[in-house]
Amino acid sequence: MPTDLTIHHQAAGYPVNGKKLKKLSNWLLDQCRVKDYNVSLLLIDDQEITRLNSHYRNNCKPTNVLSFPFAEGADESLATLPVKELGDIIISVETALKESIKYNQTLHERMSWLVIHGMLHLLGYDHERSESDERKMFNKENELLNKLNNYRRTGMTKLAINVDHVATIRQARGIDEPDPVSAASICELAGAAGIVIHLREDRRHIQDRDVYLLRQTIKTKLNLEMGANKDIIKIALEVKPDMITLVPEKRQELTTEGGLDVFSQQKKIGKVIDKMTAASIPVSIFADPDPKQLAAAKEVGATFVELHTGRYCDVIGEGNRDHEFQLLQEAAEAASQMGLRVCAGHGLNYQNTAPIAALDTIEELSIGHAIIARAVFTGLDQAVKEMLAIVRQANCTI
Ligand code: PXP
Repeated sequence: MPTDLTIHHQAAGYPVNGKKLKKLSNWLLDQCRVKDYNVSLLLIDDQEITRLNSHYRNNCKPTNVLSFPFAEGADESLATLPVKELGDIIISVETALKESIKYNQTLHERMSWLVIHGMLHLLGYDHERSESDERKMFNKENELLNKLNNYRRTGMTKLAINVDHVATIRQARGIDEPDPVSAASICELAGAAGIVIHLREDRRHIQDRDVYLLRQTIKTKLNLEMGANKDIIKIALEVKPDMITLVPEKRQELTTEGGLDVFSQQKKIGKVIDKMTAASIPVSIFADPDPKQLAAAKEVGATFVELHTGRYCDVIGEGNRDHEFQLLQEAAEAASQMGLRVCAGHGLNYQNTAPIAALDTIEELSIGHAIIARAVFTGLDQAVKEMLAIVRQANCTI
């Protein structure tokens, strides 16, 4: 890994998220176009940084960050260095914590700024050299901080909520409540980034009326799950959801049982995608974590794949669960490398969602049953917020 993070034992008691900090440092290397270089990040306390400050800078006081470029004193540009080493960034977590309180920031926010500051020193920026150099470094720091804030805003895994089972309860009585249209509004108000519905051929839960009304009322994003069926395709083209997800559909199944076999039906699926593309509707394919299916999804022109998490959720035994997780992790990475946007869903609940939400390449999760089931006891608003908290917490962004 380009960033080698060491937390000195004296700094070990501070609430630093090392994984997140390392990711941030790697992201910075990328932003500064030196991602093939290594950097060493060392976290220490005030006593230790005072010793270093005194020894190397003749200043017997604690400071927040010290940088030691590998090429210091050498008259060489980075490109001519014999090894791809940028140098060391040393941060006193103790000072960082005091500063975070003073500036009303979280410790991670303060540490992020210190890593940026230290990294720029390693890259030759120096605010002590002259006024114009100070301005240059200040501007670069601000540019990176803005990019970082933007990344943090947009890089989070989103939660889309499937409201099919609100309709299931309604259909059990054949009356008009509970209404999935009202449920969708509550989900959106609670923070959901999108609403998912599956208009099945047998209309067992979502009805045509729901699809048309939801199109008019949803403020976030409507994802229509559907089989490649002529009548449903017609409705989708009329309604124009924000995206569709193609799933296999069997009359007898209780719920979708597996990913779509796009590999064996490329011609048929390709035709549906062509129709949707002509109507500017992006298509996602619900796929098992199988490289052959992902490649076929890309081949037929899908924009997204939704990785089927069902086996990971249902499998018994920790070893088997780890294996299924690894398949999903590799599939998410492979799909992203192919240029597909990646979602995931099916069977996710309050216990098993966190590791999936933490996968970098997954943009969005589609979760239904677990949230609607909890809502029976807690109310829908609370059930959505509790799942959102899990997704946000797991989302170890930078
Ligand atoms: N994604 C797809 C493609 C689905 O078919 C379903 C179930 O309708 C879900 C996600 C949501 O699954 P669950 O209801 O188990 O969260």
